[in-house]
Amino acid sequence: MKVLIIGSGAREHAFAWKLAQSPQCERVYSSVSAAAITTADKIQRNIFGTGTADKAINFCKSNKIDLVVIGPEAPLAAGMADDLRAAGIKTFGASAAGARLESSKEYSKQFMQKYNIPTASYKSFTVLPEASEYVKTLTPPVVIKADGLAAGKGVSICATTEEAQKTLRDFMAVAVFGESGRKVVIEEFLEGREASIIAFCDGDTYKTLPVSRDHKRLLDGNSGPNTGGMGVYSPVADITAQDLDFIKTNVFDNFIKGIKAEGIDYRGIIYAGIMKGPDGKINVLEFNARSGDPETQAILPLIKNDLLEIILACLDKKLAEVNLDFDAAASVCVTLAGGDYPQSASKGAEITGLDNVRDALVFHAGTQIVNGKIYTNGGRVLSVVAAGENIEAARAKVYAEIAKINFEGMQYRKDIGE
Ligand code: AMP
Ligand code: GLY
Repeated sequence: MKVLIIGSGAREHAFAWKLAQSPQCERVYSSVSAAAITTADKIQRNIFGTGTADKAINFCKSNKIDLVVIGPEAPLAAGMADDLRAAGIKTFGASAAGARLESSKEYSKQFMQKYNIPTASYKSFTVLPEASEYVKTLTPPVVIKADGLAAGKGVSICATTEEAQKTLRDFMAVAVFGESGRKVVIEEFLEGREASIIAFCDGDTYKTLPVSRDHKRLLDGNSGPNTGGMGVYSPVADITAQDLDFIKTNVFDNFIKGIKAEGIDYRGIIYAGIMKGPDGKINVLEFNARSGDPETQAILPLIKNDLLEIILACLDKKLAEVNLDFDAAASVCVTLAGGDYPQSASKGAEITGLDNVRDALVFHAGTQIVNGKIYTNGGRVLSVVAAGENIEAARAKVYAEIAKINFEGMQYRKDIGE
C-alpha cells in the first residue's frame, strides 16, 4: 500500500517510521519538510504542506495513494478526513464532527456533561462584560479557555482576578486568537498530576495505548514558560491499574456511547488529557481528536503490532479483533529545542552527531537538509526516544544518546522520567 501522511512534526515522522515497517506498506509519502525522513527506506518527503483537502486529493489521485493518515488537529477540524473520504480515499482521522471535541472547548464540555464524563464545572461566555462579572464571583486561580483552536496556547491559568480580567479582554476584545477566543470557557481550577491516554477508535470500540506524561514547561522542575512539549515518559506509575479501569469505564466507554448517540463516525485517534487530583479523583481536562505530540514519539516505539494493520482495522470497524502487543515496557522521549525556544525558532544551525546515535530513535520536527547536511529549522528541532525495560533504563539510554548530538543553542530538559 502507498500511504500519505499529512502533517509536519516529529509526531508525523514517528507515524511514517512505524508505518514503513509494515510488510504491506510499499511507500510512505510524507507532507513533512523535516530532513531526516529522506534517509529512511520507503519514505518520501516534502510533497506539500499540511495544505488543503484539494491538494491532498489531487496528490492521492496522481500517485495512487491507498491510505491517508492525518496527524494535526487543524486539517481534521477543517474536515479534511470527510473530504478525502467523499473523494473515495481511505482516510484515518476524525471527521470534522468528531474533531469538534477538540476544536470547540464549549462543545467538548457539553459532550462530557451529557455523557457523564467527569470534568471540571464550567460556564461559557460570548459577551465580555458578562464574563467579567462572572470572574469577580470566583476565587482564583481562574481557568480561562479560548473556545476554538489556538495552537495549544488558548488556555490561561490566572493567579489573580486582575489577570483574569486582562485575559478576558485579550481573548474576547483584542482577539489575540482571532475568532477562536471570542467565546470563552471559564472553568473550575483542578489541582493534581496530568496524564495522557491515547486510544485508537473505530467508532464502535477503542484500544488504549500505554499512559504517558508530557512536560509542557521549558525548564527542569516544571518551571519556565509553556511550550509545545519538552518530553514524555511512559508508563506513568501514579496512574494505577484501578485508575485505568476508571478511565476506560467513565471516559472512553462514555465517549463511545456519546459519539454513537450523536451519529459521529469516528475512525481515528482519541486522546484524553486527564488530571488526577490529590484525592485520587480523575477528571478530563480536554479531548484531542488526534494523537499527542510528543506523546506519539514515545508511545509508537512501544507497540509491537503492525501499525498499518491497526489503522486498517479501525477503518473496517474491526478494531475489536486486534490484540495490542508491546515490545518494551517503558520509553522516554526528550525534545531538543533551539536556544530561543519558545520565543523564536532556530534556523540554519548545523546539527552534528546524528550518525553516531545507536540506541535511540530520532524524529525530526524543525530540521532541513542542504547538500547532505542537516540544519535546524524550527523551535522544537528533534524528538529523541529510547525504550527499555523500565523508565530508568530508557532514561539512561536517551540521555547517553543525546550527549552525541549537538547544534548551536541546543536546549533540553534533563529531568524527563526522573
Ligand atoms: P487544555 O488544552 O484544556 O488541556 O489545557 C491546557 C493545559 O492547561 C492543561 O494541560 C493543564 O495543564 C491546564 N488546565 C486546563 N484545564 C485546567 C483546569 N481546569 N484546572 C487546572 N489546569 C488546567
Ligand atoms: N502533548 C500535548 C498535545 O499533543 O496536545
